[in-house]
Amino acid sequence: MWNNRACRYDEYYKTFQGAIEHYVDWEILKNFLPKNKKIKILDAAGGTGRISLPLAKMGYSVTLCDISPKMLEVAELKMQREGLLDKVKICKCDTRNLHFKDETFDFVISWDGNIDDTEGLAPKELIRVTKKGGIISIFLVNKWAAVISSFNKNPDKILSSIESIPSCLEDPEGRYIVLSPEEVKNWFEEEGIKVIDIYGVCGWTDVLHIPKKILDSHTWDEKFFKQTIKMVLKLSKEPSIKGLSRHLVLYGEKL
Ligand SMILES: C[S@@+](CC[C@H](N)C(=O)[O-])C[C@H]1O[C@@H](n2cnc3c(N)ncnc32)[C@H](O)[C@@H]1O
Repeated sequence: MWNNRACRYDEYYKTFQGAIEHYVDWEILKNFLPKNKKIKILDAAGGTGRISLPLAKMGYSVTLCDISPKMLEVAELKMQREGLLDKVKICKCDTRNLHFKDETFDFVISWDGNIDDTEGLAPKELIRVTKKGGIISIFLVNKWAAVISSFNKNPDKILSSIESIPSCLEDPEGRYIVLSPEEVKNWFEEEGIKVIDIYGVCGWTDVLHIPKKILDSHTWDEKFFKQTIKMVLKLSKEPSIKGLSRHLVLYGEKL
Protein backbone atom coordinates (compact mmCIF):
# COMPACT_ATOMS: atom_id res chain seq x y z
CA MET A 1 0.00 0.00 0.00
CA TRP A 2 2.70 2.51 0.97
CA ASN A 3 4.82 1.59 -2.04
CA ASN A 4 1.86 2.59 -4.25
CA ARG A 5 1.31 5.84 -2.38
CA ALA A 6 4.98 6.88 -2.17
CA CYS A 7 5.05 9.27 -5.16
CA ARG A 8 1.91 11.10 -4.06
CA TYR A 9 2.46 11.06 -0.28
CA ASP A 10 4.02 14.53 0.05
CA GLU A 11 1.25 16.13 -2.08
CA TYR A 12 -1.19 15.90 0.86
CA TYR A 13 1.02 18.19 2.95
CA LYS A 14 0.75 20.91 0.27
CA THR A 15 -3.02 21.17 0.85
CA PHE A 16 -4.55 23.38 3.56
CA GLN A 17 -5.48 20.31 5.65
CA GLY A 18 -2.06 18.66 5.33
CA ALA A 19 -0.21 21.92 5.98
CA ILE A 20 -2.24 22.49 9.17
CA GLU A 21 -1.43 18.97 10.41
CA HIS A 22 2.25 19.32 9.60
CA TYR A 23 2.50 22.75 11.26
CA VAL A 24 0.76 21.53 14.43
CA ASP A 25 2.89 18.36 14.64
CA TRP A 26 6.00 20.57 14.47
CA GLU A 27 4.80 23.21 16.89
CA ILE A 28 4.39 20.45 19.48
CA LEU A 29 7.61 18.58 18.62
CA LYS A 30 9.72 21.77 18.84
CA ASN A 31 9.02 22.02 22.58
CA PHE A 32 10.65 18.64 23.24
CA LEU A 33 13.73 18.77 20.98
CA PRO A 34 16.95 19.00 23.00
CA LYS A 35 19.33 21.89 22.19
CA ASN A 36 22.22 19.43 21.85
CA LYS A 37 22.49 18.65 18.11
CA LYS A 38 24.76 15.65 18.77
CA ILE A 39 21.95 13.43 20.03
CA LYS A 40 20.93 10.32 18.09
CA ILE A 41 17.38 10.50 16.69
CA LEU A 42 15.35 7.61 15.25
CA ASP A 43 12.45 8.41 12.90
CA ALA A 44 10.73 5.01 12.73
CA ALA A 45 8.12 4.44 9.99
CA GLY A 46 9.46 7.77 8.81
CA GLY A 47 8.20 7.40 5.23
CA THR A 48 9.35 10.08 2.81
CA GLY A 49 11.18 12.02 5.52
CA ARG A 50 8.51 14.57 6.44
CA ILE A 51 10.09 14.76 9.90
CA SER A 52 13.67 13.65 9.20
CA LEU A 53 14.29 16.31 6.57
CA PRO A 54 13.56 19.38 8.72
CA LEU A 55 15.41 17.75 11.64
CA ALA A 56 18.47 17.26 9.43
CA LYS A 57 18.18 20.86 8.20
CA MET A 58 18.27 21.96 11.85
CA GLY A 59 21.58 20.09 12.23
CA TYR A 60 20.44 16.87 13.92
CA SER A 61 21.63 13.44 12.75
CA VAL A 62 18.72 11.12 12.09
CA THR A 63 18.21 7.44 11.36
CA LEU A 64 15.15 7.14 9.13
CA CYS A 65 13.70 3.66 8.81
CA ASP A 66 10.57 2.38 7.11
CA ILE A 67 9.17 -0.90 5.80
CA SER A 68 8.39 0.50 2.33
CA PRO A 69 11.33 0.70 -0.11
CA LYS A 70 9.45 3.16 -2.33
CA MET A 71 8.77 5.60 0.54
CA LEU A 72 12.48 5.39 1.37
CA GLU A 73 13.44 6.02 -2.28
CA VAL A 74 11.45 9.26 -2.20
CA ALA A 75 13.11 10.18 1.11
CA GLU A 76 16.57 9.51 -0.30
CA LEU A 77 15.93 11.68 -3.37
CA LYS A 78 14.74 14.55 -1.17
CA MET A 79 17.79 14.33 1.12
CA GLN A 80 20.08 14.17 -1.91
CA ARG A 81 18.45 17.26 -3.44
CA GLU A 82 18.94 19.18 -0.17
CA GLY A 83 22.52 17.93 0.33
CA LEU A 84 21.53 16.20 3.59
CA LEU A 85 22.55 12.60 2.91
CA ASP A 86 25.41 12.87 5.43
CA LYS A 87 22.88 13.78 8.16
CA VAL A 88 20.27 11.09 7.48
CA LYS A 89 20.95 7.36 7.58
CA ILE A 90 18.19 5.61 5.63
CA CYS A 91 17.40 1.94 6.21
CA LYS A 92 14.59 -0.51 5.51
CA CYS A 93 13.22 -2.15 8.64
CA ASP A 94 10.03 -3.15 10.38
CA THR A 95 9.14 -1.12 13.48
CA ARG A 96 7.80 -4.33 15.06
CA ASN A 97 11.28 -5.86 14.89
CA LEU A 98 13.96 -3.16 14.91
CA HIS A 99 17.53 -4.22 14.21
CA PHE A 100 19.08 -1.70 16.62
CA LYS A 101 20.67 -2.54 19.97
CA ASP A 102 18.87 -1.72 23.25
CA GLU A 103 19.12 1.94 24.26
CA THR A 104 20.67 3.24 21.02
CA PHE A 105 18.75 6.52 20.58
CA ASP A 106 18.24 9.68 22.67
CA PHE A 107 15.04 10.67 20.86
CA VAL A 108 12.67 8.22 19.18
CA ILE A 109 9.83 9.37 16.92
CA SER A 110 7.24 7.14 15.32
CA TRP A 111 4.38 9.01 13.72
CA ASP A 112 1.46 7.37 12.03
CA GLY A 113 2.95 3.99 11.13
CA ASN A 114 1.41 1.34 13.36
CA ILE A 115 -1.06 -0.46 11.12
CA ASP A 116 -1.21 -4.26 11.52
CA ASP A 117 0.39 -4.17 14.95
CA THR A 118 -2.44 -5.62 16.98
CA GLU A 119 -0.09 -6.96 19.67
CA GLY A 120 1.60 -3.62 20.36
CA LEU A 121 5.02 -4.91 19.26
CA ALA A 122 6.07 -1.58 17.71
CA PRO A 123 5.71 0.55 20.89
CA LYS A 124 7.69 -2.10 22.85
CA GLU A 125 10.47 -2.06 20.25
CA LEU A 126 10.53 1.74 20.19
CA ILE A 127 10.87 1.81 23.99
CA ARG A 128 13.61 -0.86 23.88
CA VAL A 129 15.84 1.20 21.54
CA THR A 130 15.36 4.45 23.54
CA LYS A 131 18.14 5.32 26.01
CA LYS A 132 17.21 5.73 29.68
CA GLY A 133 16.34 9.41 30.13
CA GLY A 134 15.62 9.64 26.37
CA ILE A 135 12.37 10.93 24.85
CA ILE A 136 9.82 8.95 22.90
CA SER A 137 7.16 10.51 20.65
CA ILE A 138 4.61 8.11 19.26
CA PHE A 139 1.30 8.43 17.39
CA LEU A 140 -1.55 6.15 18.41
CA VAL A 141 -5.03 5.84 16.96
CA ASN A 142 -7.49 7.60 19.26
CA LYS A 143 -10.12 5.16 20.48
CA TRP A 144 -13.01 7.59 20.85
CA ALA A 145 -12.66 9.22 17.43
CA ALA A 146 -12.31 5.76 15.83
CA VAL A 147 -15.38 4.28 17.51
CA ILE A 148 -17.48 7.38 16.87
CA SER A 149 -16.73 7.28 13.13
CA SER A 150 -17.30 3.47 12.84
CA PHE A 151 -20.29 3.06 15.18
CA ASN A 152 -22.93 3.46 12.49
CA LYS A 153 -21.43 0.73 10.29
CA ASN A 154 -21.32 -1.97 12.97
CA PRO A 155 -22.75 -0.99 16.38
CA ASP A 156 -22.50 -4.55 17.85
CA LYS A 157 -18.82 -4.86 17.04
CA ILE A 158 -18.00 -1.34 18.21
CA LEU A 159 -19.81 -1.75 21.53
CA SER A 160 -18.02 -5.02 22.28
CA SER A 161 -14.62 -3.70 21.22
CA ILE A 162 -14.92 -0.64 23.49
CA GLU A 163 -14.70 -2.87 26.55
CA SER A 164 -11.37 -4.53 25.74
CA ILE A 165 -8.08 -2.77 26.41
CA PRO A 166 -6.44 -2.34 24.04
CA SER A 167 -9.27 -2.55 21.50
CA CYS A 168 -8.55 -3.53 17.93
CA LEU A 169 -10.38 -2.05 14.96
CA GLU A 170 -9.90 -2.47 11.25
CA ASP A 171 -10.43 -0.48 8.08
CA PRO A 172 -9.34 -1.06 4.47
CA GLU A 173 -5.76 -0.09 5.47
CA GLY A 174 -5.40 -2.87 8.07
CA ARG A 175 -5.97 -3.73 11.72
CA TYR A 176 -4.77 -1.47 14.48
CA ILE A 177 -4.88 -0.90 18.21
CA VAL A 178 -7.02 1.97 19.47
CA LEU A 179 -6.57 3.53 22.92
CA SER A 180 -8.17 6.42 24.79
CA PRO A 181 -5.89 9.15 26.22
CA GLU A 182 -6.20 7.57 29.69
CA GLU A 183 -5.41 4.07 28.35
CA VAL A 184 -2.36 5.42 26.46
CA LYS A 185 -1.06 6.92 29.71
CA ASN A 186 -1.56 3.70 31.70
CA TRP A 187 -0.16 1.44 28.94
CA PHE A 188 3.08 3.43 28.57
CA GLU A 189 3.56 3.88 32.31
CA GLU A 190 3.38 0.10 32.71
CA GLU A 191 6.11 -0.14 30.05
CA GLY A 192 8.48 2.15 32.04
CA ILE A 193 7.69 5.49 30.39
CA LYS A 194 7.03 8.65 32.40
CA VAL A 195 4.29 10.31 30.36
CA ILE A 196 5.12 14.01 29.89
CA ASP A 197 2.05 14.91 27.83
CA ILE A 198 -0.49 13.55 25.36
CA TYR A 199 -1.89 15.74 22.57
CA GLY A 200 -4.79 15.17 20.22
CA VAL A 201 -3.63 15.58 16.62
CA CYS A 202 -5.19 15.17 13.13
CA GLY A 203 -8.85 15.36 12.28
CA TRP A 204 -9.51 18.76 13.90
CA THR A 205 -10.37 20.42 10.59
CA ASP A 206 -13.40 18.06 10.36
CA VAL A 207 -14.42 18.88 13.94
CA LEU A 208 -14.22 22.58 13.00
CA HIS A 209 -16.45 21.97 9.93
CA ILE A 210 -13.96 23.59 7.55
CA PRO A 211 -15.37 23.06 4.03
CA LYS A 212 -13.69 20.41 1.87
CA LYS A 213 -13.02 23.01 -0.82
CA ILE A 214 -10.72 24.86 1.59
CA LEU A 215 -9.18 21.67 3.02
CA ASP A 216 -8.12 20.42 -0.44
CA SER A 217 -6.95 23.81 -1.65
CA HIS A 218 -3.27 24.51 -2.40
CA THR A 219 -3.59 28.26 -1.79
CA TRP A 220 -5.30 29.88 1.17
CA ASP A 221 -5.92 33.02 3.16
CA GLU A 222 -2.92 33.36 5.51
CA LYS A 223 -4.99 34.98 8.28
CA PHE A 224 -7.45 32.04 8.32
CA PHE A 225 -4.55 29.54 8.24
CA LYS A 226 -2.99 31.17 11.35
CA GLN A 227 -6.38 31.31 13.10
CA THR A 228 -6.92 27.61 12.38
CA ILE A 229 -3.47 26.74 13.76
CA LYS A 230 -4.21 28.72 16.94
CA MET A 231 -7.54 26.95 17.40
CA VAL A 232 -6.16 23.45 16.67
CA LEU A 233 -3.25 23.94 19.10
CA LYS A 234 -5.78 24.84 21.82
CA LEU A 235 -7.98 21.82 21.04
CA SER A 236 -5.00 19.45 20.93
CA LYS A 237 -4.20 20.20 24.59
CA GLU A 238 -7.69 20.51 26.01
CA PRO A 239 -8.43 17.40 28.14
CA SER A 240 -12.21 17.65 27.72
CA ILE A 241 -11.97 17.49 23.92
CA LYS A 242 -8.72 15.82 22.82
CA GLY A 243 -10.50 12.45 22.70
CA LEU A 244 -12.13 13.65 19.46
CA SER A 245 -8.87 13.92 17.51
CA ARG A 246 -7.97 11.16 15.04
CA HIS A 247 -4.56 10.46 16.63
CA LEU A 248 -2.93 10.94 19.97
CA VAL A 249 0.73 11.81 20.18
CA LEU A 250 2.43 10.80 23.37
CA TYR A 251 5.62 12.42 24.63
CA GLY A 252 7.31 10.45 27.35
CA GLU A 253 10.66 9.91 29.04
CA LYS A 254 12.14 6.44 29.44
CA LEU A 255 12.85 5.77 33.11
C1 LIG B 1 1.24 7.70 7.14
S1 LIG B 1 2.88 7.26 6.72
C2 LIG B 1 3.75 8.24 7.91
C3 LIG B 1 5.14 8.60 7.48
C4 LIG B 1 5.84 9.59 8.42
N1 LIG B 1 5.99 9.05 9.75
C5 LIG B 1 5.08 10.90 8.49
O1 LIG B 1 4.54 11.22 9.56
O2 LIG B 1 5.00 11.57 7.47
C6 LIG B 1 3.02 5.64 7.42
C7 LIG B 1 4.38 5.02 7.19
O3 LIG B 1 4.49 3.88 8.04
C8 LIG B 1 5.21 2.88 7.35
N2 LIG B 1 4.97 1.61 8.03
C9 LIG B 1 3.79 0.98 8.19
N3 LIG B 1 3.97 -0.14 8.91
C10 LIG B 1 5.30 -0.20 9.21
C11 LIG B 1 6.10 -1.12 9.93
N4 LIG B 1 5.57 -2.19 10.50
N5 LIG B 1 7.43 -0.88 10.04
C12 LIG B 1 7.99 0.22 9.46
N6 LIG B 1 7.28 1.12 8.75
C13 LIG B 1 5.95 0.91 8.64
C14 LIG B 1 4.66 2.97 5.93
O4 LIG B 1 5.51 2.35 4.99
C15 LIG B 1 4.57 4.49 5.76
O5 LIG B 1 5.77 5.02 5.22
